[in-house]
Amino acid sequence: MAETLVTIANRKSTRGFKMDQIPAAAVDAILKAGNEAPVGTGAFPTIHFTVIQNADLIKKISDAATRGTPRAGADIFYGAPTVILVSAAEQPFPGLDLADAGSIIQNFLLAATDLGLGSVYIFGSNAAFAAEPELLKEAGIPEGFKPVSSAAIGYATAEATAAPKAPRNIPVNRV
Ligand SMILES: Cc1cc2nc3c(=O)[nH]c(=O)nc-3n(C[C@H](O)[C@H](O)[C@H](O)COP(=O)(O)O)c2cc1C
Repeated sequence: MAETLVTIANRKSTRGFKMDQIPAAAVDAILKAGNEAPVGTGAFPTIHFTVIQNADLIKKISDAATRGTPRAGADIFYGAPTVILVSAAEQPFPGLDLADAGSIIQNFLLAATDLGLGSVYIFGSNAAFAAEPELLKEAGIPEGFKPVSSAAIGYATAEATAAPKAPRNIPVNRV
């Protein structure tokens, strides 16, 4: 149990990745961790994962997400060789898809951390599919599903590894 808390404490956003691809076994372990996450109403059939390891498609999604914005051309995935999209079908309650994505992606990120990989939650990828719906087909997203979040995963660069985790102290009230 203590090891879990150490992994939670060690997780931080990686914003610089090496080009080297991660092993297939690591992808499998990360997907399994996603499957272990809590999902609202237990509606697992309303969730779909897409593993993207095609650098051209990753760039296309990034370009579509930033086109016409001040960040045009920036890589929203920071050079990560693997991106996992979480897509959701229509949910019975508004916002449940985003809550599910948060739950699942945190498990992805913790699994990646445990495996010695860098990772970062990417919400910005959603904009790509809204702006250029043909990307849904290109990414093989099933009919009726839309991407609601993603995780960028890979080996962190030395610089990203050295970057400190943002300090925090979220206020608490106890009643
Ligand atoms: C819902 C959500 C969306 C996020 N979207 C992005 C994103 O699009 N791009 C990015 O670089 N970081 C994104 N992040 C990462 C946050 O900026 C990061 O978690 C936060 O600054 C705290 O830093 P830490 O992850 O190192 O603890 C997102 C995080 C969450 C939880």
